[in-house]
Amino acid sequence: MKGSLLYEGKAKKVYCVDDEPEQLILSYKNDATAFNGKKKDQFEGKGRLNNLITSRIFEYLQQQQLTSHFIKALNDNEQLVAKTTIIPLEVVVRNIAAGSITRRLGIEEKSLFEPSLVELFYKKDELDDPILNDQHALYLTDITEDELKAVKQMALEINEHLKTLFKQSGLDLVDFKLEFGRLADGTIVLADEISPDTCRLWDEKTGEKMDKDVFRESLGDLITVYENILQRLEENTCAK
Ligand code: C5P
Repeated sequence: MKGSLLYEGKAKKVYCVDDEPEQLILSYKNDATAFNGKKKDQFEGKGRLNNLITSRIFEYLQQQQLTSHFIKALNDNEQLVAKTTIIPLEVVVRNIAAGSITRRLGIEEKSLFEPSLVELFYKKDELDDPILNDQHALYLTDITEDELKAVKQMALEINEHLKTLFKQSGLDLVDFKLEFGRLADGTIVLADEISPDTCRLWDEKTGEKMDKDVFRESLGDLITVYENILQRLEENTCAK
């Protein structure tokens, strides 16, 4: 069923599916990269954890009537998704100040954003993913003004769903990055992954960082932390 390798990214490999031209298989790798690939390592079991965490989260979003590329998890490391053409935008939603915004705008870490902020970045490794305004995004991609508005609205809706999901697991959703893609008929849907690689999650009681910042800032064992996130999501979503 798994066809040829179509593309290899920093965190995933993308395969064609034999006889299903509108589907793809995403295979999650054990590689961890930060600072646009300047810091690199490998963690046995990371691919499995991100695949299973992303699958749980996309299933939850589907239950909330949110359409995405996700079809199903196939095994520990792979998931079946609808084929999309990724729009080269990284849509970041921020509830609490952390990471690049604290450096870029001199905002103190932990400051609250009410309402939540939406930022756009250009998905372009050679340029280190620069921040964009709406006009840049309209110029650089094939997205229309109405579609961009809808994408930002979707990102904020997803934020509400994710905040609820993580809160039930004792986690504060600090920020996260989404990617969107176009299906064959042109419809824009949520794509890519949602995992501790793409979200900042802080333990609501201790404030402990439970995401890729553990790797970025060398704070401890990434696998133990990601396992803890999966376990919390499983306890939470199994009870439903
Ligand atoms: O680095 P920055 O603070 O802008 O990241 C905001 C959020 O987006 C973080 O949760 C980070 O993990 C995520 N992100 C990502 N992929 C990128 C850049 C940021 O998943 N290329």
